[in-house]
Amino acid sequence: MTSDVADLGLARLGRDRIEWADHYMPVLATVRARFEAEQPFAGVAIGACLHVTAETANLLRTLRAGGAELSLCASNPLSTKDDVAAALVTDYSVATFARRGESATAYGEHVAAVLDRSPDLTVDDGCDLVARLHVERPEQAATMIGGTEDTTTGAIRLRSLAAAGALSYPIVAVSGSAARTLADNRYGTGQSTVDGILRATNTLMAGARVVVAGYGNCGRGIAERVRGLGASVIVTEVDPLRALEAALDGYQVMSMAEAAATGEIFVTATGNRDVIGREHFLVMSDGAILANAGHFDVEIDVGALTALAGDAHRVLRPMVEEFVIGTGRRLLLLAEGRLVNLGAADGNPAQVMDISFAVQALACEWLVRHRDNLAPEVHDVPEAIDREVARLKLATMGVGIDELTDSQRSYLASWNG
Ligand SMILES: NC(=O)c1ccc[n+]([C@@H]2O[C@H](COP(=O)([O-])OP(=O)(O)OC[C@H]3O[C@@H](n4cnc5c(N)ncnc54)[C@H](O)[C@@H]3O)[C@@H](O)[C@H]2O)c1
Repeated sequence: MTSDVADLGLARLGRDRIEWADHYMPVLATVRARFEAEQPFAGVAIGACLHVTAETANLLRTLRAGGAELSLCASNPLSTKDDVAAALVTDYSVATFARRGESATAYGEHVAAVLDRSPDLTVDDGCDLVARLHVERPEQAATMIGGTEDTTTGAIRLRSLAAAGALSYPIVAVSGSAARTLADNRYGTGQSTVDGILRATNTLMAGARVVVAGYGNCGRGIAERVRGLGASVIVTEVDPLRALEAALDGYQVMSMAEAAATGEIFVTATGNRDVIGREHFLVMSDGAILANAGHFDVEIDVGALTALAGDAHRVLRPMVEEFVIGTGRRLLLLAEGRLVNLGAADGNPAQVMDISFAVQALACEWLVRHRDNLAPEVHDVPEAIDREVARLKLATMGVGIDELTDSQRSYLASWNG
């Protein structure tokens, strides 16, 4: 199998979509130009398992410009854009194995098809390539140069594998990158979560009481955006430092038990389970909107909500379910309690993926350049890569900053001034 996509006739549409996204990805374009000159991936095969989107296509173009042989399968069958998949085959020489809505069997075959092409590097979003290599192809795993992992959940699993001494090759955990966390979690998720809530409900934020559960990277971004729209924001936390930060940032901070009775729109962003549960539903006001921005659909206890409503449940409009509880109070759940920014909106803008994927591209280069002295562990993104991506982004934004003078540098390095 050299590729497997839904319809090569969609390639033209896909190319337009890829070029559109490229317009908003100047950092990656800058990296691509350097790769083209330096060819860091000459003779290197890269296998990727990523969302098959226009932004991913621009990452792959960048790796290809650096001399890589590329193959791609989907990290989620529902996010595949068939037109992009077609264009990757016809216009960008990427062996692509992805069809939107493919079955679990086809998904597995496509992961195998990428591994059959003997990649030297894996670029994963959820550990599928690494897991298959370790479980089914240990000899092949032992020959790998390295890999990158895009998700926090994937990185956690890889760290467990490494702790057990069973990880066969070095992996860079891109999810921990400072540049990426700033752009993706705070600004990307902050904006797209609000976008998802608005697209699903078209509710007025101005004057609304919005409860944000979790004041981490995502929660800060969400709180900041909804305040900008005129909402009055309440934050709930379990970490006293984060709660203090929220209070000093000017938000009301209280327990969920208290917030449940007063909030009108609830957004969870904690990475934790059962943050909003039965006892909270019982005191919420009529028309309360419930949305989740955390990775898994466990933050709002949908089971408890379903049990409380019984048959008094209906789909009200796309991505909005109504649950009637008690004496007729309607609670509105968005996107089934799954990631609202992906379920009801388009997820991260290309400008955010520009930063995330520039980190990915530079991490791949770092793995190849240091291939002879990297232990088979999970490595953090080197600080130099984060700084370089931030520098490039500022340059593309036309923002200049100061540089340390020699005397400032030695002042900062000395202990006695
Ligand atoms: N929607 C997206 O596109 C997207 C993007 C990035 C991350 N995420 C996910 O969002 C979640 C949060 O990510 P983050 O980067 O903000 O994490 P983070 O660790 O920076 O912040 C999470 C915060 O939630 C708090 N918390 C934990 N349990 C809580 C509880 N019961 N009540 C109130 N607060 C609680 C923690 O103290 C912490 O301050 C994770 O699941 C992450 O995977 C989603």
